[in-house]
Amino acid sequence: MKQISSGIFKDENRLYTKNLILGKRVYGEKLVDVKDTQLREWDPTRSKLAAAILNGMNINPIKEGSKVLYLGASTGTTPSHISDIVGPKGIVYCLEFAERVFRSVVELQKDRKNIAPILVDARKPEEYSWIEECDIVYVDIAQPDETEISIRNAKEFLKFNGYMLIAIKSRSIDVTKDPKQVYKEEKIKLQESDFEIVDIINLEPYEKDHAMIVCKK
Ligand SMILES: C[S@@+](CC[C@H](N)C(=O)[O-])C[C@H]1O[C@@H](n2cnc3c(N)ncnc32)[C@H](O)[C@@H]1O
Repeated sequence: MKQISSGIFKDENRLYTKNLILGKRVYGEKLVDVKDTQLREWDPTRSKLAAAILNGMNINPIKEGSKVLYLGASTGTTPSHISDIVGPKGIVYCLEFAERVFRSVVELQKDRKNIAPILVDARKPEEYSWIEECDIVYVDIAQPDETEISIRNAKEFLKFNGYMLIAIKSRSIDVTKDPKQVYKEEKIKLQESDFEIVDIINLEPYEKDHAMIVCKK
């Protein structure tokens, strides 16, 4: 078992985060005790961030103490691992607009005090303007206008020099286009809005027709 970055461990092709809440699973994942630390296995078929890391993402800006604005928290699978990584000194603002899945994030917050669930539409930043500036904006909303929503949120909430990670689902943006063309077009939109592209990682074989774009404000 090797630590590969802040709070993230790797053993052959398996990823783990250091469990913030000892003995607690979030989605049935395996728990592994190593000396006085407990690790939670991080499934790359359930989390695009894990897939990007396993596929060689050249930087992981999410660290202990990071403040993260997370758009599209769903039931909280990836947010729970980010909560492990940022630890008690960090915070993950989890935005989600579907009430049914949002309930799981509220459950998660009962143990994980660094998770702040917010039931809101990420297209309406004016409704959560009270959120502080963040080090990271993480986006996984599978919407046709995902990049535009990301840019609007980053302009409002991302610190200068902060990083934004966008999980792009090619088919949600344009089902008729070659995924590579879609990634290129989204990249250009970000560059035209003054974001520096740091990396683009294809998420196959874990997620078909998906890429993670990492950019900097
Ligand atoms: C692919 S799932 C996210 C999975 C999650 N990020 C994970 O890795 O565990 C996309 C989620 O984004 C939410 N979503 C889509 N558009 C949204 C919007 N405009 N505002 C808030 N949430 C949105 C959906 O309801 C859905 O739960």
